[in-house]
Amino acid sequence: MQTQFVEQETPVFDFLPLNGTDHVELYVGNAKQSAHFYKTAFGFNTVAYAGPETGLRDRASYVLQQGKIRLVLTTPLKSESPIMDHIKKHGDGVKILALWVDDAYKSYEETIKRGAKSYQEPKTLTDEFGEVRTAGIYTYGETIHLFVERKNYTGAFMPGYAAVEGGYQPASTGLLYIDHCVGNVGWNRMDDAVNWYEEVMGFKNILSFDDKQINTEYSALMSKVMSNKNGYVKFPINEPAEGKKKSQIEEYLEFYEGEGVQHIAVATHDIITTVRDMKARGVEFLSPPPRAYYETLLERVGKIDEDIAPLQELGILVDYDEEGYLLQIFTKPVQDRPTLFFEIIQRKGAQSFGAGNFKALFESLEREQELRGNL
Ligand code: FE2
Repeated sequence: MQTQFVEQETPVFDFLPLNGTDHVELYVGNAKQSAHFYKTAFGFNTVAYAGPETGLRDRASYVLQQGKIRLVLTTPLKSESPIMDHIKKHGDGVKILALWVDDAYKSYEETIKRGAKSYQEPKTLTDEFGEVRTAGIYTYGETIHLFVERKNYTGAFMPGYAAVEGGYQPASTGLLYIDHCVGNVGWNRMDDAVNWYEEVMGFKNILSFDDKQINTEYSALMSKVMSNKNGYVKFPINEPAEGKKKSQIEEYLEFYEGEGVQHIAVATHDIITTVRDMKARGVEFLSPPPRAYYETLLERVGKIDEDIAPLQELGILVDYDEEGYLLQIFTKPVQDRPTLFFEIIQRKGAQSFGAGNFKALFESLEREQELRGNL
């Protein structure tokens, strides 16, 4: 019998296997009220809580969940606090992009070995539901990647948090999981950030847009999408580019007083229903693009399953790539500083990031920026 040798692709060793996003933690001025906003307006439910009642003296944290998305809202209880320092400088914003791993100690060791700056050494937290291991490293600005290992844990969130059931738990708006989280970095910092994700985290740059592709009459930006090996975690990075006026990335950097998370994109299977529901609950979205955007939509993107009328009514944008299309819309900033906002996205085959919509999106953003006197 003849032996046949089948040529196989050499599997690439992944020194940092990720199962997905574990949670996103925001530091906010008033976590109780922020929790109410995300529950009422976005449709999250409270699943866990930590604070004075659970033995914490310096902070309170609310863990909200919808689909697979977990948001943790943390506020300090005293002025002498690194959390308060963070809020004083940045306002409400994302502190931690936590990544779900099978081995937090190993994740820490592998990334530190490759040059990561430590935020928190590995530790094991235990309670009657088992154990959670965490470790953290710095990424851009003061933002942290926390590695969370929870394979031996059956509790609501983590040791130290009490499960919350019942009480005020509004209906979901259909949000399912985090699609990507975008960071803004400063002038000439793109290469550093890209190299960092490649070298320290083993990510790959899967898409790039330069300032020729993403520009309006007034401003421009550059964007590179970084993805981990299995594609479960995607972190696009933006850097401002020279334009006639101040870009929205510069406005962000000025008001966040540094680099940080610009937007969190959350996925739905029915964007029209989700956005209509969120609007009725008071979420503010960017104003729709001009009518011409919808008049020429089908010529640009080809046939789509949705009617144009509700997309136009709600201001939902459509883009496409070789594999299909996607629908997306952006909220206005969710705090008074023009910093963090959310994207709602529905993918119908397309794996890209809506570069075709950047112009429409930017023009919308610039109208808002002008109203704030920041253009
Ligand atoms: Fe996005």
